[in-house]
Amino acid sequence: MSHAEDHDDTRRDFLYYVTAGAGAITAGAAVWPLVDQMNPSADVRALSSIRVDIADVEVGTQISVKFLGKPVFIRRRGADEIEDARSVDLDDLIDNVARNANDPGKDGSDQNRTMDEAGEWLVMMGVCTHLGCVPLGDGAGDFHGWFCPCHGSHYDTSGRIRKGPAPENLPIPMAEFIDATTIKLG
Ligand code: FES
Repeated sequence: MSHAEDHDDTRRDFLYYVTAGAGAITAGAAVWPLVDQMNPSADVRALSSIRVDIADVEVGTQISVKFLGKPVFIRRRGADEIEDARSVDLDDLIDNVARNANDPGKDGSDQNRTMDEAGEWLVMMGVCTHLGCVPLGDGAGDFHGWFCPCHGSHYDTSGRIRKGPAPENLPIPMAEFIDATTIKLG
């Protein structure tokens, strides 16, 4: 392959990934967060905090929303995904740190990464920890979680890096349930 062809391939790959990332965000727009428009400081608060309606998220699916300029994946996991994530030996993890802003310093157990005790809700930044591409979801990759095609990083059903060049698990932003159907980010 000539250098010119090599360059073209690289460029095509790059354009593909950017498009894929934009698509993920667009899909999340259908459930765009509710921001209180009446509060005078709403514009300021919107920068650091958003509310996401999760009422329509089915088991085994996820939505993507934009938060602080980056995609956030909100996944409602099925029983098989939870079991997969919780049966992993922590010694097998590349990064045995939960990377959970809500509970810093804990080990990489799935229980330390999920929103609820049962492990149904997983909220993560949708940004590969290698060089920042948006990973593909819905069971992608060798570990049936997320796969970043930019350089081949595979994340498991807990968003933990299991194979490839990414050094860390997908980080979990500040997040909490406001009520049964609303998650606040930030
Ligand atoms: S940016 Fe994801 S593997 Fe390189």
